[in-house]
Amino acid sequence: MKITIFFLVILALYIDISVSLDAGQETVSKHGQLSVSGTNIVNQNGNIVQLKGMALYWSQWKPQYWNEETVQGIHDSCHSNVVRASMGIDTNDGGYLTDPDGQMKLVETVIEAAIKHDIYVIVDWHEEKAETHVTQAVDFFDKISKKYGSYPNVMYETFNEPTTQSWSEELKPYHEAVIKAIRANDPDNIIIVGTGQWSQRVDEAAEDPITDQTNIMYTLHFYAGTHRQWLRDLAQGAIDKGLPIFITEYGTDNVDVVNAVDAEESQLWWDWCDSNNLSYANWAICDVAEASAALIADTPTDKVCQEAYLTESGLLVVAQNKK
Ligand SMILES: *[C@@H]1O[C@H](CO)[C@@H](O)[C@H](O)[C@H]1NC(C)=O
Repeated sequence: MKITIFFLVILALYIDISVSLDAGQETVSKHGQLSVSGTNIVNQNGNIVQLKGMALYWSQWKPQYWNEETVQGIHDSCHSNVVRASMGIDTNDGGYLTDPDGQMKLVETVIEAAIKHDIYVIVDWHEEKAETHVTQAVDFFDKISKKYGSYPNVMYETFNEPTTQSWSEELKPYHEAVIKAIRANDPDNIIIVGTGQWSQRVDEAAEDPITDQTNIMYTLHFYAGTHRQWLRDLAQGAIDKGLPIFITEYGTDNVDVVNAVDAEESQLWWDWCDSNNLSYANWAICDVAEASAALIADTPTDKVCQEAYLTESGLLVVAQNKK
């Protein structure tokens, strides 16, 4: 009897310390296949799990950070369990539509580094007019899901930030076409779909969600200096209606990414996210002269996320990833 109690106490202690608040320790080898249960992400054992991490900057403008060293730094030093591969699309920007092979190579490098370094990876179709590139998006996600869909690491983000498109008439049919292509190869990894008005109008998606599918989540983006309590209220309404939300991109500053970091409002956002178990990825791993950049100018890739190379925003974000 005493021995049983002893083992129960040991077991309870073990359970207590087995889930760390440091996202860097909540890796793929620990949580395995993720799925969506209600509004939460759950792990292979059905326990709620929260992903916290970093978004890479536009692939066509900062390809030097689309490599293994950077992904390792994001895990080890930015204490992340997810990296978002934000692949630029627009022809004008020199993205995927201009150089599909080159861009595909960057994405594959990041996916393979995420697998090696034991974190989740979001493959993001990063543009604002994806409904005009359905064929290319379907083809891209078909290839990615065929090659990597068997890895529990992989998540798909079909459309970064729609703008004024109609949710029901344009966005939902686009997402359904891409989901169909992915699901032909990958029955279960999480797919995250973009919402109207730069991924703020989760309320519209909550009114008319995608049905007959599992493991679908909806994108919410915020920039703390611009989006405040009103957007948290709107998103809370969507969550209360049962909409699973993933914050695939957020900034600690203003939406135009040049104003100062708003530490106070960022903390309000993080607290709200944590109270809802929402997962989030910070914009962005780059060294450009923008307040939201996590790295100081000319950060070498083998120093990514090391403290001496983090900006004001980067320091706040990394501290949050450990909480
Ligand atoms: C968040 O997760 C915890 C367990 O980790 C759970 O007790 C709580 O109910 C969850 N909150 C919501 C809003 O789902």
